[in-house]
Amino acid sequence: MTASAVGGNTGVMQITVGIITISDRASAGEYEDLGGPVLKTAAEKAGWRVQAEALIPDELPRIQETIRALSAQGCGLILTTGGTGIAQRDVTPEAIRAIMRVELPGFGEAMRMESLKITPNAILSRSLAAVVDRSLVVALPGKPSGAVECLGFVAGAIPHAVALAQRVPTSC
Ligand code: MTE
Repeated sequence: MTASAVGGNTGVMQITVGIITISDRASAGEYEDLGGPVLKTAAEKAGWRVQAEALIPDELPRIQETIRALSAQGCGLILTTGGTGIAQRDVTPEAIRAIMRVELPGFGEAMRMESLKITPNAILSRSLAAVVDRSLVVALPGKPSGAVECLGFVAGAIPHAVALAQRVPTSC
């Protein structure tokens, strides 16, 4: 993904990003977290500032408290990777929906529609975006390449969505 593909710097408002990798095995040290670092690189290429990173297991309360903590720290955009599928422990969508103010269904629709052009397995992801407190939360699939692909498909709408979530005066 290139900087232009993700919309570049807003020129108006610095987007501050929190990245959360949600994975039982990576958080237990069974394998390296690759998703968080690739999302960090993608966010920085877009001109956004990565303020916080977290690596947590697929546990609903942990997901919720981590999102809320990053939001309270001022992250206008929170990217999660992992837990969007249908495995027994995949609870990322449930965790977000239980604390969101509003969902943005177009994000999930666009991510699945565009990803289906790459892999038929994209239909298995329940990826979504929602406003939680004053943050835009975008839940991306766990595969690092898939997470970056999906971010690229929705990045154009992110600056405006973050401004709205943060209640910054903005116009379309
Ligand atoms: N989307 C894109 N763009 N690229 C991918 O490789 N992988 C899919 C899907 N979405 C994929 C993708 C697969 S294999 C799964 S199982 C689901 O995302 C859910 O992944 P998760 O449970 O790791 O979040």
